[in-house]
Amino acid sequence: MCGIVGYVGRRDAVAILIKGLKRLEYRGYDSAGIAVFTGDSGFACKKKKGKVNELSRILEQEPLTGNIGIAHTRWSTHGVPSDTNAHPHLDCSQEIAVVHNGIIENFQELKDTLIIEGHTFLSETDTEVIAHLIEKFYAGDLEDAVRKAVKELHGSYAICVTHKKEPYRIVGARLDSPLVIGVGENENFLASDIPAILEYTRDIIYVQNNEIVSIDLDSVSVKSLDGMKIEKTPEKINWDITQAEKGGFPHFMLKEIFEQPDVLRKIINTRLSGENIHFDELNLTEDDLVKTRNIAIVACGTAYHAGLTGKYMLEECTRTPVWADTSSEFRYRDPIVGDDTLMIVISQSGETADTLAALREAKKRGAKVLALCNVLGSSITRESDGVIFTHAGPEIAVASTKAYTAQLATLYLFTLYLARLKGALSEARIKELLSEFKRIPYLLEEILTRYKVDGNEIAHYAKDFKAYYEKGHTKSFFLYLARNINYPNALEGALKLKEISYISAEGYPAGEMKHGPIALIDENPWVVCIATKSRTYDKMRSNIQEVKARNGIVVAIVTSGDENIRSLGLNYVIDVPAVDEFFSPLLIALPLQLLAYYVALEFGYDIDQPRNLAKSVTVE
Ligand code: M6R
Repeated sequence: MCGIVGYVGRRDAVAILIKGLKRLEYRGYDSAGIAVFTGDSGFACKKKKGKVNELSRILEQEPLTGNIGIAHTRWSTHGVPSDTNAHPHLDCSQEIAVVHNGIIENFQELKDTLIIEGHTFLSETDTEVIAHLIEKFYAGDLEDAVRKAVKELHGSYAICVTHKKEPYRIVGARLDSPLVIGVGENENFLASDIPAILEYTRDIIYVQNNEIVSIDLDSVSVKSLDGMKIEKTPEKINWDITQAEKGGFPHFMLKEIFEQPDVLRKIINTRLSGENIHFDELNLTEDDLVKTRNIAIVACGTAYHAGLTGKYMLEECTRTPVWADTSSEFRYRDPIVGDDTLMIVISQSGETADTLAALREAKKRGAKVLALCNVLGSSITRESDGVIFTHAGPEIAVASTKAYTAQLATLYLFTLYLARLKGALSEARIKELLSEFKRIPYLLEEILTRYKVDGNEIAHYAKDFKAYYEKGHTKSFFLYLARNINYPNALEGALKLKEISYISAEGYPAGEMKHGPIALIDENPWVVCIATKSRTYDKMRSNIQEVKARNGIVVAIVTSGDENIRSLGLNYVIDVPAVDEFFSPLLIALPLQLLAYYVALEFGYDIDQPRNLAKSVTVE
């Protein structure tokens, strides 16, 4: 995790670096720091526990000026969040400064050796060994010293390094953590992610594993670990920084929830020409796909819930056996995966370490790996055999919303594409489903229009929950129940709520209630029941009755116009428009997201940056 940024140019480096850090805070925000060359061979470093704003406050009191510098926003792995453990880390001579994203797995051995050799360490971090290793190898050429140092490292890293004796350049390197170069005019940038620098340049070079880069005022060089020059042409970024800003919403999460109709429209426009479904970047042949005997879907968190929904879609429409697993479990259970397996990995960021490791494991075992991913140029897309971009646009809030529905939508289209290839579904049914799919953006809009106004019903339910909680029901929690293709949505609703409101929440297949969870039901739990019209509707009605009979509070998500279900004495009702049951997860996701949002809002928590989390989890 962590975000790094570097700037060499003629402008105020501090302002650029701080702005860059703020745009990278989704990667971690427990401490931040900056090192800049302040002129006349001066070199200053400031670090502070807390968010980037804390560092800004320090810089207001003790300003720094300079045109070259590096900066960091941290998500702790080794060492508690503190001023001392914040980056940049310096060597013994205080001439070398390093910011790092990743984990150095052999840091303890390196540290022990460096201590014996006379180096003094100040922090508990793994990163500090990098500064001392570079110091050890430095003989007048920073790039050379960095090259020698990274050869000693095991683990993952993206680093930016400066040396007081070379105050005109920044050297960077990467292995399994993202790093991009922004190419400007008389200025150049390094960063973990594009939004940090997009305001200044659209010309981006993706740094690859085992590359060493060096940027100064008017040149950029990329070399291999053996020192061979690598020619790179910058790619033009065609999305806008406003897409990465709040656009008038109080939180990124709310903005991203409201972007979902447009995301769906974009996916439809990109993937459908009439009734033809196409994935131009797929890079897997029809033969590869047709000969697939089984499909494995692997992902983490929200992306896993999308994948689990994909299992229901793919099995129903392609009649191919599918299993879905979390990446961290897949890896260690000796999975049965071979050359007749299509492994689908799903990731918003494309940098999730567990998913990357699972992907590598599956490839080792001969599977073809297809990535469904939101971030162009990310590690997962580069290492997979094939890729389908999910086109959600930059997602900033830690709680994933639009990336989830984009993953679902992409899985729906891929399912129908594969069903057509395999001849597993009649052409008439495919056409019927595609025509229903094209209505989805309008249906999402209908839901959002209804819940847009201040004081909307879901916001009101959240208020009631807080009041109930404060009236002494502090044992209250949320239970999410659903069946069939909406069961993963129950898991996702619970994840969303606990992630941002810190209230205990659990998702369960409603049929499993009687096998244990029903013991939890009294007046404390708020039970969110997904009870829209479906083949399991009657069963869900029975589950609602079971909850009501035990004094549970029911929040039911129902199909608009279903008056009948209200006779069950529901405490709270959320309507969603009628849609083919197959696509209902896309609609139901929205009220689940909104409920989590409004509960967290009531409790006054930091919605976009919940505690202990980071947007991109690049550690295993
Ligand atoms: O970038 P990825 O999609 O691979 O991330 C996977 C999970 O870390 C992510 O979905 C996480 O669960 C979200 N914070 C959920 O809102």
